[in-house]
Amino acid sequence: MPLVSTRELVASAAAEGRAVPAFNVITLEYAEAVTAGAAAADVPVILQISENAVRFHDSRAKPLALAVAEIARTCGVDTALHLDHVTDTGLLRTAADAGFSSAMFDAGAQPYAENLSTTLAAANWAHGAGLWLEAELGYVGGKPGAPRSAHAAGVRTDPLEAAQFVADTGVDALAVAVGSSHAMTERSASLDHELIGRLRDAVPIPLVLHGSSGVSDDGLRRAIRSGIAKVNIGTALGVAFTRAVRDALDSMPGSADPRHYLGRGREAISETVRQYCSVVGS
Ligand code: G3H
Ligand code: ZN
Repeated sequence: MPLVSTRELVASAAAEGRAVPAFNVITLEYAEAVTAGAAAADVPVILQISENAVRFHDSRAKPLALAVAEIARTCGVDTALHLDHVTDTGLLRTAADAGFSSAMFDAGAQPYAENLSTTLAAANWAHGAGLWLEAELGYVGGKPGAPRSAHAAGVRTDPLEAAQFVADTGVDALAVAVGSSHAMTERSASLDHELIGRLRDAVPIPLVLHGSSGVSDDGLRRAIRSGIAKVNIGTALGVAFTRAVRDALDSMPGSADPRHYLGRGREAISETVRQYCSVVGS
Protein backbone atom coordinates (compact mmCIF):
# COMPACT_ATOMS: atom_id res chain seq x y z
CA MET A 1 0.00 0.00 0.00
CA PRO A 2 1.29 3.50 -0.66
CA LEU A 3 1.98 5.94 2.11
CA VAL A 4 -0.96 8.32 2.35
CA SER A 5 -1.28 11.63 4.15
CA THR A 6 -2.34 12.05 7.77
CA ARG A 7 -4.95 14.49 6.47
CA GLU A 8 -6.63 11.75 4.42
CA LEU A 9 -6.55 9.13 7.18
CA VAL A 10 -7.91 11.42 9.88
CA ALA A 11 -10.52 13.05 7.65
CA SER A 12 -12.01 9.76 6.54
CA ALA A 13 -11.99 8.39 10.08
CA ALA A 14 -13.66 11.53 11.46
CA ALA A 15 -16.30 11.47 8.71
CA GLU A 16 -17.17 7.88 9.61
CA GLY A 17 -17.14 8.39 13.40
CA ARG A 18 -13.97 6.30 13.74
CA ALA A 19 -10.48 7.18 14.95
CA VAL A 20 -7.03 6.53 13.55
CA PRO A 21 -4.56 4.94 15.96
CA ALA A 22 -1.23 6.78 15.91
CA PHE A 23 1.72 4.83 17.31
CA ASN A 24 5.03 6.30 18.43
CA VAL A 25 8.05 4.77 16.72
CA ILE A 26 11.51 4.88 18.28
CA THR A 27 13.51 2.28 16.34
CA LEU A 28 13.19 0.25 13.16
CA GLU A 29 11.89 -2.70 15.19
CA TYR A 30 9.02 -0.48 16.32
CA ALA A 31 8.18 0.41 12.71
CA GLU A 32 8.28 -3.24 11.65
CA ALA A 33 6.07 -4.20 14.58
CA VAL A 34 3.55 -1.38 14.16
CA THR A 35 3.05 -2.15 10.48
CA ALA A 36 2.81 -5.89 11.16
CA GLY A 37 0.24 -5.36 13.93
CA ALA A 38 -1.78 -2.95 11.80
CA ALA A 39 -1.71 -5.33 8.84
CA ALA A 40 -2.84 -8.22 11.07
CA ALA A 41 -5.80 -6.12 12.22
CA ASP A 42 -6.33 -4.65 8.72
CA VAL A 43 -6.50 -1.14 10.17
CA PRO A 44 -4.84 2.01 8.73
CA VAL A 45 -2.40 3.63 11.14
CA ILE A 46 -0.22 6.68 11.64
CA LEU A 47 3.43 6.08 12.50
CA GLN A 48 4.71 9.01 14.47
CA ILE A 49 8.24 9.98 15.43
CA SER A 50 8.51 12.43 18.31
CA GLU A 51 11.02 15.21 18.74
CA ASN A 52 12.36 13.22 21.71
CA ALA A 53 12.90 10.19 19.46
CA VAL A 54 14.69 12.39 16.93
CA ARG A 55 16.96 13.63 19.75
CA PHE A 56 17.70 10.00 20.67
CA HIS A 57 18.91 9.49 17.09
CA ASP A 58 21.55 12.20 17.32
CA SER A 59 18.93 14.88 16.51
CA ARG A 60 18.67 13.65 12.92
CA ALA A 61 15.09 13.01 11.77
CA LYS A 62 15.72 11.97 8.20
CA PRO A 63 17.55 8.60 8.51
CA LEU A 64 14.85 7.08 10.75
CA ALA A 65 11.97 8.80 8.93
CA LEU A 66 13.07 7.57 5.50
CA ALA A 67 13.51 4.01 6.76
CA VAL A 68 10.15 4.05 8.55
CA ALA A 69 8.49 5.39 5.41
CA GLU A 70 9.96 2.56 3.35
CA ILE A 71 8.76 -0.04 5.85
CA ALA A 72 5.31 1.56 5.90
CA ARG A 73 5.09 1.80 2.13
CA THR A 74 5.46 -1.95 1.75
CA CYS A 75 2.97 -3.10 4.39
CA GLY A 76 -0.59 -4.20 3.64
CA VAL A 77 -2.55 -1.25 5.04
CA ASP A 78 -2.66 2.51 4.50
CA THR A 79 -0.19 4.34 6.70
CA ALA A 80 0.92 7.93 7.21
CA LEU A 81 4.03 9.48 8.76
CA HIS A 82 3.69 12.19 11.44
CA LEU A 83 6.28 14.24 13.35
CA ASP A 84 5.07 14.37 16.96
CA HIS A 85 5.47 16.85 19.83
CA VAL A 86 7.64 19.38 18.04
CA THR A 87 8.82 22.36 20.06
CA ASP A 88 11.84 23.16 17.89
CA THR A 89 10.80 25.17 14.83
CA GLY A 90 14.10 24.23 13.18
CA LEU A 91 13.01 20.57 13.31
CA LEU A 92 9.53 21.48 12.05
CA ARG A 93 11.12 23.05 8.98
CA THR A 94 12.82 19.76 8.09
CA ALA A 95 9.58 17.74 8.31
CA ALA A 96 8.44 17.82 4.68
CA ASP A 97 11.90 17.06 3.37
CA ALA A 98 12.15 14.07 5.73
CA GLY A 99 8.90 12.63 4.32
CA PHE A 100 6.37 13.57 7.00
CA SER A 101 2.91 14.62 5.82
CA SER A 102 2.03 16.18 9.17
CA ALA A 103 3.36 17.45 12.47
CA MET A 104 2.14 18.25 15.97
CA PHE A 105 3.37 21.61 17.22
CA ASP A 106 3.58 21.37 20.99
CA ALA A 107 3.01 24.70 22.73
CA GLY A 108 0.32 23.48 25.13
CA ALA A 109 2.49 24.17 28.17
CA GLN A 110 2.78 27.85 27.23
CA PRO A 111 0.40 30.59 28.40
CA TYR A 112 -2.54 31.10 26.02
CA ALA A 113 -1.21 34.17 24.20
CA GLU A 114 2.16 32.59 23.59
CA ASN A 115 0.61 29.27 22.51
CA LEU A 116 -1.58 31.24 20.08
CA SER A 117 1.20 33.28 18.51
CA THR A 118 3.76 30.46 18.20
CA THR A 119 1.13 28.03 16.90
CA LEU A 120 -0.13 30.58 14.36
CA ALA A 121 3.41 31.02 13.04
CA ALA A 122 3.94 27.24 12.96
CA ALA A 123 0.63 26.68 11.14
CA ASN A 124 1.37 29.33 8.53
CA TRP A 125 4.76 27.84 7.87
CA ALA A 126 3.49 24.24 7.86
CA HIS A 127 0.67 25.01 5.43
CA GLY A 128 3.13 26.73 3.12
CA ALA A 129 5.14 23.50 3.12
CA GLY A 130 2.02 21.36 2.51
CA LEU A 131 1.94 19.88 6.02
CA TRP A 132 -1.18 19.15 8.11
CA LEU A 133 -0.64 20.70 11.55
CA GLU A 134 -1.94 19.52 14.92
CA ALA A 135 -1.70 21.84 17.93
CA GLU A 136 -2.49 21.52 21.63
CA LEU A 137 -4.71 23.65 23.81
CA GLY A 138 -5.12 22.90 27.49
CA TYR A 139 -2.29 20.83 28.77
CA VAL A 140 -1.82 17.07 28.58
CA GLY A 141 0.85 16.58 31.22
CA GLY A 142 3.05 13.66 32.13
CA LYS A 143 6.02 14.24 29.83
CA PRO A 144 9.45 14.35 31.51
CA GLY A 145 9.91 17.70 33.24
CA ALA A 146 6.23 18.54 32.80
CA PRO A 147 5.37 21.56 34.95
CA ARG A 148 1.69 20.82 35.61
CA SER A 149 -0.71 17.91 35.96
CA ALA A 150 -3.45 17.21 33.42
CA HIS A 151 -5.70 16.53 36.36
CA ALA A 152 -5.21 19.95 37.96
CA ALA A 153 -8.13 22.39 37.87
CA GLY A 154 -8.07 24.85 34.99
CA VAL A 155 -5.74 22.78 32.83
CA ARG A 156 -8.40 21.05 30.72
CA THR A 157 -9.36 22.44 27.35
CA ASP A 158 -12.17 24.98 27.40
CA PRO A 159 -14.58 24.59 24.42
CA LEU A 160 -15.12 28.32 23.77
CA GLU A 161 -11.41 29.06 24.01
CA ALA A 162 -10.71 26.07 21.74
CA ALA A 163 -13.11 27.34 19.06
CA GLN A 164 -11.42 30.75 19.14
CA PHE A 165 -7.93 29.21 19.10
CA VAL A 166 -8.75 27.09 16.05
CA ALA A 167 -10.30 30.05 14.22
CA ASP A 168 -7.31 32.26 15.02
CA THR A 169 -4.56 29.77 14.16
CA GLY A 170 -6.09 27.77 11.29
CA VAL A 171 -4.67 24.49 12.63
CA ASP A 172 -5.95 21.20 11.19
CA ALA A 173 -6.46 19.17 14.38
CA LEU A 174 -6.49 19.87 18.09
CA ALA A 175 -4.98 17.84 20.93
CA VAL A 176 -7.23 18.33 23.92
CA ALA A 177 -6.72 17.93 27.66
CA VAL A 178 -9.66 15.83 28.82
CA GLY A 179 -8.20 13.73 31.64
CA SER A 180 -5.48 11.64 30.00
CA SER A 181 -1.83 12.05 30.90
CA HIS A 182 1.36 10.99 29.13
CA ALA A 183 3.52 8.02 30.11
CA MET A 184 0.99 6.15 32.27
CA THR A 185 1.89 2.48 32.66
CA GLU A 186 -1.53 1.57 34.08
CA ARG A 187 -4.80 2.13 32.26
CA SER A 188 -6.49 4.06 35.05
CA ALA A 189 -7.06 7.52 33.52
CA SER A 190 -10.58 8.82 33.87
CA LEU A 191 -11.67 10.82 30.82
CA ASP A 192 -14.21 13.62 30.87
CA HIS A 193 -16.47 12.32 28.09
CA GLU A 194 -18.97 15.11 28.56
CA LEU A 195 -16.17 17.63 27.88
CA ILE A 196 -15.06 15.70 24.78
CA GLY A 197 -18.63 15.96 23.46
CA ARG A 198 -18.75 19.71 24.13
CA LEU A 199 -15.37 20.17 22.43
CA ARG A 200 -16.54 18.17 19.41
CA ASP A 201 -19.61 20.41 19.11
CA ALA A 202 -17.55 23.61 19.49
CA VAL A 203 -14.52 22.80 17.34
CA PRO A 204 -14.85 22.20 13.57
CA ILE A 205 -11.65 20.11 13.20
CA PRO A 206 -10.66 16.60 14.38
CA LEU A 207 -9.83 16.16 18.07
CA VAL A 208 -6.76 14.21 19.20
CA LEU A 209 -6.32 12.19 22.40
CA HIS A 210 -2.77 12.10 23.77
CA GLY A 211 -1.57 9.87 26.57
CA SER A 212 -3.86 7.08 25.43
CA SER A 213 -1.76 4.31 27.01
CA GLY A 214 -3.37 5.26 30.32
CA VAL A 215 -6.94 4.81 29.04
CA SER A 216 -8.88 1.53 29.21
CA ASP A 217 -10.37 -0.11 26.11
CA ASP A 218 -13.85 1.02 27.17
CA GLY A 219 -12.57 4.54 27.81
CA LEU A 220 -11.04 4.65 24.32
CA ARG A 221 -14.22 3.36 22.66
CA ARG A 222 -16.28 5.93 24.50
CA ALA A 223 -13.84 8.75 23.70
CA ILE A 224 -14.15 7.92 20.00
CA ARG A 225 -17.94 7.88 20.23
CA SER A 226 -17.72 11.26 21.98
CA GLY A 227 -15.64 12.78 19.16
CA ILE A 228 -11.95 11.80 19.24
CA ALA A 229 -10.56 11.10 15.74
CA LYS A 230 -6.85 10.40 16.38
CA VAL A 231 -5.62 8.31 19.32
CA ASN A 232 -1.93 8.60 20.25
CA ILE A 233 -0.31 5.55 21.82
CA GLY A 234 3.33 5.35 22.87
CA THR A 235 4.08 4.14 26.37
CA ALA A 236 2.11 0.90 25.99
CA LEU A 237 4.52 -0.14 23.24
CA GLY A 238 7.52 0.61 25.42
CA VAL A 239 6.01 -1.40 28.27
CA ALA A 240 5.40 -4.42 26.00
CA PHE A 241 8.83 -4.17 24.37
CA THR A 242 10.73 -3.79 27.64
CA ARG A 243 8.92 -6.64 29.36
CA ALA A 244 9.57 -9.00 26.43
CA VAL A 245 13.23 -8.01 26.15
CA ARG A 246 13.73 -8.45 29.90
CA ASP A 247 12.10 -11.89 29.83
CA ALA A 248 14.19 -12.89 26.80
CA LEU A 249 17.44 -11.82 28.43
CA ASP A 250 16.52 -13.68 31.60
CA SER A 251 15.63 -16.83 29.67
CA MET A 252 18.81 -16.97 27.56
CA PRO A 253 21.71 -15.69 29.68
CA GLY A 254 24.24 -17.31 27.32
CA SER A 255 23.06 -15.50 24.17
CA ALA A 256 25.01 -12.55 22.78
CA ASP A 257 22.86 -12.07 19.67
CA PRO A 258 20.69 -8.93 19.94
CA ARG A 259 18.28 -10.37 17.38
CA HIS A 260 17.11 -12.87 19.98
CA TYR A 261 15.79 -10.28 22.40
CA LEU A 262 14.96 -7.56 19.86
CA GLY A 263 12.86 -10.09 17.99
CA ARG A 264 10.88 -10.91 21.14
CA GLY A 265 10.40 -7.19 21.79
CA ARG A 266 9.22 -6.64 18.24
CA GLU A 267 6.67 -9.46 18.51
CA ALA A 268 5.35 -7.98 21.75
CA ILE A 269 4.84 -4.57 20.15
CA SER A 270 3.17 -6.11 17.14
CA GLU A 271 0.63 -7.94 19.31
CA THR A 272 -0.01 -4.79 21.37
CA VAL A 273 -0.61 -2.80 18.20
CA ARG A 274 -2.97 -5.46 16.84
CA GLN A 275 -5.00 -5.29 20.05
CA TYR A 276 -5.15 -1.47 20.06
CA CYS A 277 -6.12 -1.47 16.39
CA SER A 278 -9.03 -3.80 17.09
CA VAL A 279 -10.28 -1.36 19.75
CA VAL A 280 -9.44 2.01 18.22
CA GLY A 281 -9.50 1.48 14.47
CA SER A 282 -12.58 -0.62 13.89
O1 G3H B 1 1.99 11.88 21.44
C1 G3H B 1 2.10 10.74 21.92
C2 G3H B 1 1.13 10.21 22.85
O2 G3H B 1 0.45 11.19 23.49
C3 G3H B 1 1.53 9.00 23.59
O3 G3H B 1 1.17 9.02 24.95
O4 G3H B 1 2.93 7.45 25.67
O5 G3H B 1 1.12 8.09 27.20
O6 G3H B 1 0.63 6.64 25.25
P1 G3H B 1 1.46 7.71 25.83
ZN1 ZN C 1 1.42 13.19 23.27
